[in-house]
Amino acid sequence: MALVNARLGLRIQAHQRQPFAQRIEQLQSRFAIWGQHELEQLIQGGRVDDPAFEFLVAGITVGESYFFRDRNQLDFLQQRFLPQLIARLRRSGRNDPRIWSAGCSDGQELYSILLMLQQLLPENEHWRPFLLGTDINADALKRARSAEYSEWSLRQVDAPTRNKLFERQENLWRLRLERFAGSVRFDYLNLVESSYPSMLQGVHSLDLILCRNVFIYFDRPTIESILARFAKCLNPGGMAMIGACDYAPEHVAGLTLHAIGDVFYYLREEFAAPAAEPPPPPSVASGSWTATIATAAQFAQAIEPVAATQPVIPTQPVAPKAPAASPDVAAPSRAQIDEMIAHGRAAQALELVQSAQRAVYHPPPEMDLLHGHCLASLGRMDEARSALERFTRNNELEPQAYFLLALVAMEQARLRDAEALLRRTLLLDPALIMAHYHMGVLKLRQGRADAGRKALRRALSLLEAATPDAPIALGDGMTHAQLADALNQELEAAP
Ligand SMILES: C[S@@+](CC[C@H](N)C(=O)[O-])C[C@H]1O[C@@H](n2cnc3c(N)ncnc32)[C@H](O)[C@@H]1O
Repeated sequence: MALVNARLGLRIQAHQRQPFAQRIEQLQSRFAIWGQHELEQLIQGGRVDDPAFEFLVAGITVGESYFFRDRNQLDFLQQRFLPQLIARLRRSGRNDPRIWSAGCSDGQELYSILLMLQQLLPENEHWRPFLLGTDINADALKRARSAEYSEWSLRQVDAPTRNKLFERQENLWRLRLERFAGSVRFDYLNLVESSYPSMLQGVHSLDLILCRNVFIYFDRPTIESILARFAKCLNPGGMAMIGACDYAPEHVAGLTLHAIGDVFYYLREEFAAPAAEPPPPPSVASGSWTATIATAAQFAQAIEPVAATQPVIPTQPVAPKAPAASPDVAAPSRAQIDEMIAHGRAAQALELVQSAQRAVYHPPPEMDLLHGHCLASLGRMDEARSALERFTRNNELEPQAYFLLALVAMEQARLRDAEALLRRTLLLDPALIMAHYHMGVLKLRQGRADAGRKALRRALSLLEAATPDAPIALGDGMTHAQLADALNQELEAAP
């Protein structure tokens, strides 16, 4: 049990001990794992796509979920948060609400949001939502991708809506994914690992994180560190919503807790907010994490005051708190900026780069490259593209610039550009594993399964010679072993 806790953060409570012991017995007989050492190795270091590991995880994570679970929370999202988010994005010229269901189970939560967006986003406007669901339960992820549900999963959906949005397939209901079908993605991500924020998985610059009914598995320090990582994944004004019965710590660096009845959510403060010990949030009873009972008026105002102070992602670069121009200010190095980005500190890295650009008399041209990298990590793709293209005009042989431009192109759904840029990257650096990985993912998304698999296998073969625990070049903090897991997942899911 201690090993399971260390690897997955899951607490096995007293009433779960017997089912847990049964699952271990089933695992041992089904996969012929008899030795204690072999079992420990599987739990501690088993690959996430090892069928035995998947079997264990599927048995100890309870993935019960259903459409429109917890009506109060979803009403709040549908009537308050999402309309205001949409208005805010319109004002800032963005068309890509970025939403993550963390611990998504079979996908019902993410698809519920998709259905709301279908209603809220006018068809005659060009919207490109980004909807990501992640979980550690591989069976649940497969079910989520298939979008087929039992009658029981639809118990909160009335019959006319069900018949309109789903089609019956024998004893299951298949969600009709007409609009925004290409916007939804389901991936493996273990919340207790520090693998996010991650540009690779799209876990960055988010507007909404839903992590409901997942904290039940974790102890308090784990929950606190997950929330601290969520703060780094959110845009200012972005929201992280947890379940009505989840432990909600009052103080999380970068986040402010709000509670309206049983609707708990955190709002991301501005990037410049102090990292430690924020003042106690006004809407929560002091010294307690239980909700204050809100009046209807409080409910109505819940988002507005925040929107009034920090609603818009600035379309212009945030004016850096630059020191006065001084020849003594050293420009940050590429390694320093990569390291900051890998640890989720892209906003601070950006300030550093912008300060150097202002303060250094002749900023080295590399500053444009670093500037572009920071902006891309913060989801400011148009600005990132300008900075990176400026850099490549005078530095035609730098693979990192083309690689970052390819990621920007992928985010902007310019898939042909992305492919050309990745090809160029690999011409300049054939050993850049992340470029092979993205090439594979890109080709798979374009339906070119053979070419996609080939590129992923190439990345895997390059990984064989690499040190598993070392961070991978341009992997935003991801280790070689974690990329190998991601590659195996992609290969397994590939047609
Ligand atoms: C009860 S379901 C909640 C599903 C959905 N969020 C909802 O509220 O309906 C909890 C999910 O959390 C997932 N989970 C548990 N531990 C996790 C971890 N360490 N990382 C990611 N997901 C995890 C489980 O596999 C399960 O699918």
